[in-house]
Amino acid sequence: MINKLSVAALVVAFIVSCGGKQATSEQDEPVQLSTSQLAAIGKILVDESDCKTCHHSTNKIIGPSHTDVAKKYEFNDENIKLLAKRIIEGGSGVWGEIPMNAHPDLSQEDAEKMAIYVLSLDGEEKK
Ligand code: HEC
Repeated sequence: MINKLSVAALVVAFIVSCGGKQATSEQDEPVQLSTSQLAAIGKILVDESDCKTCHHSTNKIIGPSHTDVAKKYEFNDENIKLLAKRIIEGGSGVWGEIPMNAHPDLSQEDAEKMAIYVLSLDGEEKK
């Protein structure tokens, strides 16, 4: 279920963090969010998508638990991109024979936020 409050809190945090920053003419980088903010958005995206049909955060259902995924892959940019690609394109053969469906409608940015959330589930502190 979507937690409306946490969405509202993020929107507020986002607006506050934008405040005072003048947008430059070129297509500049969006406001830098911290890893925990990105992971919080990623969690909301995962909750809103179909992921929970096959993934539980700590128990294997059809797909591996997202905690097991976090334990398998180190938290770094390379793995965030790798898992975002798997989320968008689907995949199979890493955890077993059951394939994961593709999510072609997800943007790269959203898939990366989901990957950051998943990779943050190993319980270790992220910078
Ligand atoms: C139809 C069931 C299903 C759905 C829906 C699903 N997954 Fe998966 N997912 C799987 C299976 C099965 C695997 C293991 C695939 C493999 O062995 O390579 C997997 C693997 C993964 C992996 C690990 C990939 C790897 O290469 O190690 C991640 C991350 C992941 N899923 C995230 C998500 C996210 C985020 C969503 C929602 C957008 C999602 N999944 C939706 C079934 C699903």
